[in-house]
Order: sequence, then C-alpha cells, then structure tokens
Amino acid sequence: MNAWIAVAVLLAPGVVDAQALLPRPAITTQEDYSDAMKDIAAQNTLLRKSLTSKSEGDAISAAARLEANFKKVLAYWDDKQVEDARAEATKAAAAAQDIAKALQNHDIQGATTASQALAGTCMACHAAHRDRLTDGFYKIK
Ligand code: HEC
Repeated sequence: MNAWIAVAVLLAPGVVDAQALLPRPAITTQEDYSDAMKDIAAQNTLLRKSLTSKSEGDAISAAARLEANFKKVLAYWDDKQVEDARAEATKAAAAAQDIAKALQNHDIQGATTASQALAGTCMACHAAHRDRLTDGFYKIK
C-alpha cells in the first residue's frame, strides 16, 4: 500500500516538474553545505573586487548568486529550526538583495554599505555555528 503511494507520488508529473524548476538542489548534507559556503566565499570576493573597480554588471551577478545561496542556507536552518542561524541567513539574503538593488540604481556607495552588513553576517554565524577542525576543515555545529 505505502509503496504504491510512493510510486504514485514519484510518477506524478507535477512533482517532477517542480523539482526540475529548482535552480540548484537544496542543502541536505554537510558536503552540500560546505560547497555552498565555498561558492559564497568566492562570490563575496568577486563582489568586493567588482565594487572597488566599479564593475556593476559583475557585482550584480555576484550579489544574485549570493542571494540564491543564502536562501538555500536559510532553508537548511529553517528545517533545523535554529533561530539565530535563521536570522543571520535571512539578513545575509536581504543584504545581497539590497546590494543588487543599489547597483541597479548605480549606487556604488549604497551597495558597499550593504556589503558591510553582509560581511557582518558571516562573522556572526561562524562564531556560533562553525567548528574548525584541526586539519583546517570546517563543520557545522
Ligand atoms: C547562517 C550561518 C552562516 C552565514 C550567514 C555564513 N556562513 Fe559560512 N559557514 C557556516 C557554517 C555552519 C560553516 C561550516 C560548515 C562547512 O564548512 O561545511 C561555514 C563555513 C564557511 C567556509 C568554509 C567552507 C569549507 O567547508 O571549507 C567559508 C569559506 C565560509 N563559510 C564563508 C562565508 C562567507 C564569506 C560568509 C558571508 C558572506 C558566510 N560564510 C556566511 C555558516 C554561515
């Protein structure tokens, strides 16, 4: 009986389509989380460089990717119901959105201010939820 329900759910076209539309898979493992953070770090560096060299297009795409990544991070903590991490991930996604909005108005100063708010979330969340292992790797705590 249960197996039949599972098969029906898997074969339901709506379910398959919804998954195909997701831009990137959700974070479910420590490895997924680590990959998302590595991408966040790379995009954050790119964003800072683009802001100082006033390359608006590059900065906008980095901000958009940061926002998408932080939404995945938010979903992860939402699921775990960890309130402070949820709050920092929400702030980070909002700051990334503010950066993109400011840049669309050619407001580099506004984008720079929002990027400082974004940087604050990295430190706050890492202090509470990032464990440094002796071999230089990190894990979620
Ligand atoms: C909501 C919490 C949260 C926020 C916000 C956050 N991080 Fe993280 N980050 C973590 C956790 C938890 C880990 C440890 C997990 C891991 O690395 O697998 C981590 C790990 C990392 C790592 C190590 C990745 C690895 O595994 O080698 C880097 C780099 C990193 N974060 C960069 C950033 C930067 C840059 C920002 C801000 C722009 C940021 N993070 C914001 C929670 C967060």
